[in-house]
Amino acid sequence: MSAKAPAVEYGQADQDWSAADYARHAGFVVERAADLIDWLAPRPGERVLDLGCGDGTMSLRLLARDTAAIGVDASPAMVAAALEQGIEAMVLDGHDLADGTAGTDYDAVFSNAALHWMKQDPDAVIAGVRTALCPGGRFVAEFGGAGNVAPIRAALRAEAEERGRDADTLDPWFFPDAAEYRARLEEAGFVVERLETFERPTPLPGDIADWLTTLAWPFVTAFAAGPERNGYVSDVVERLRPELADANGHWYAPYLRLRFIARKPEQD
Ligand code: BEZ
Repeated sequence: MSAKAPAVEYGQADQDWSAADYARHAGFVVERAADLIDWLAPRPGERVLDLGCGDGTMSLRLLARDTAAIGVDASPAMVAAALEQGIEAMVLDGHDLADGTAGTDYDAVFSNAALHWMKQDPDAVIAGVRTALCPGGRFVAEFGGAGNVAPIRAALRAEAEERGRDADTLDPWFFPDAAEYRARLEEAGFVVERLETFERPTPLPGDIADWLTTLAWPFVTAFAAGPERNGYVSDVVERLRPELADANGHWYAPYLRLRFIARKPEQD
């Protein structure tokens, strides 16, 4: 009898983020966007709301710049991790900022790699940010723009459809183009001071299966843990290998970022 390799088990986390997996497999998300804080140009003592703070790693950098940073995130697991890092943080969906629970009169709302998860109503998110800001306050953010991780998204969708799932229902992401997002900001009364999109091809620290199970968990956890999930992830990986892995098995992800600075007018 030939020895059989043990089956790979993918994505044991349930319907929420795993802060430990995020730190292990996606630490580059903060590193690669570190200069977004230069766009924010925080002044000591400013009150900054970190929208979609995740495990608080970026908030820590804001604190290191002498701001009073407070984080909000929809994920209880991520907020728990942020609190463990000593960040003042609370569980709040970005769609609910307008209710004032997270406070108002912020000098700035800052956000990295989070707005694309707020797909349900991007205009409600922008309106909530406006409510949270003081007059003259700024909204400085980076997230995925149109075409972000396009082959990965296409493979996740195609393999889901092949298994009889509705890809639109599973797909959690909002990746707008520059013109669309500028129009949304302006429609909400922001003055857009700077808005850019740019490519950021990013070498991954490990196998792309780690990226999928950590960051594409809404797709992955739609399949039952065990053979169904393992088959789904393996087939997505094999679809992507020719395009995103090199001959040595090193993977990269074709990130495309949308960054902006938008200001709430002093007077409405
Ligand atoms: C991003 O930061 O662009 C991203 C993160 C998770 C899933 C998809 C995209």
